[in-house]
Amino acid sequence: MSSPNAVTAVAGTNIALVKYWGKRDVALNLPAAGSLSLTLDRLGTRTTVAFDDGERDRFVLDGAPAGDAATTRVSTFLDRVRASAQIARRALVTSENSVPTAAGLASSASGFAALALAATRAAGLELPAPELSALARIGSGSAARSIFGGFVEMARGVRPDGSDAIARPMPEGDGWEVRLVVAITAAGPKAIGSTAAMTHTARTSPYYEAWVAGVPADLTAARAAIAARDLAALGVIAERSALRMHAAAMAADPAIIYWNAATVAAIAAVRALRAGGTPAFVTIDAGPHVKALCRAADADAVAAALRAVPGVSETLIAAPGPGARVVEAP
Ligand code: DP6
Repeated sequence: MSSPNAVTAVAGTNIALVKYWGKRDVALNLPAAGSLSLTLDRLGTRTTVAFDDGERDRFVLDGAPAGDAATTRVSTFLDRVRASAQIARRALVTSENSVPTAAGLASSASGFAALALAATRAAGLELPAPELSALARIGSGSAARSIFGGFVEMARGVRPDGSDAIARPMPEGDGWEVRLVVAITAAGPKAIGSTAAMTHTARTSPYYEAWVAGVPADLTAARAAIAARDLAALGVIAERSALRMHAAAMAADPAIIYWNAATVAAIAAVRALRAGGTPAFVTIDAGPHVKALCRAADADAVAAALRAVPGVSETLIAAPGPGARVVEAP
């Protein structure tokens, strides 16, 4: 099935504990502030890239040809890889997301991390991880973090070319037995994509500047919490960061509201667990699903509590996972 020069890479998605929400440069996807995340062992992407003699790039996603917008995004990304490798050949890109339901959890983070690795290798390039992270960032800001496993910090960077807007692994968090319990609260794609939503927030939300200004202190505190393996400290920062990000988006004009009734009920359920002595903390991305950060030992109980929330259709427990890696190459 795959051509002899095909390279396959896999990457796990990541969930930010200090969120990225806003850009200092849209073309190069440079973030307005740093961020900090956990790469997961589930919800990843497996991508095969084969350069061939086709007339144009083709993108097959989860077994079917992708739409024009997604194909163009992939093709534009491949243009950068072709320019670095000084090749002109088009490619067949085949991607599969390991998402349990069609719940809108498919992730550009794992997608562009796997694509960056598979495409560069298939083009004959062997980029050092920091350069791979910068490349993945151009596809999607959060993808820069999925190049690495475990806890990862993404730097805002100061250079106009983005060469220092890259992620780095945080080995001080390795082996820490935390879990993210994902509660699915709706089916279908999200209301508004993160790229458009960030731009709209930056343009119209009176809270945007305050949001961006608060991130460096959260990063400093999160780094210390990870070094100390202090889940309560990290959880408080993560929950606060997510709620402030959403507050900034909700204050945009018109408002961006990703939540539904089950989102709010799931937040309440996690806070009730906490009040009852189980350390669990909420984070929410650009969608209605709720993720709870907790100890591995509490993950089953947290998942059970979230499954009992009306409107939660499914839960899954994810552990820290490895960074992007090549799994098949000539
Ligand atoms: C809420 O990385 O999807 O998940 O850079 O425009 O592709 P683009 O955005 P994307 O945004 C992620 C937003 C978030 C928070 C986070 O992952 O840090």
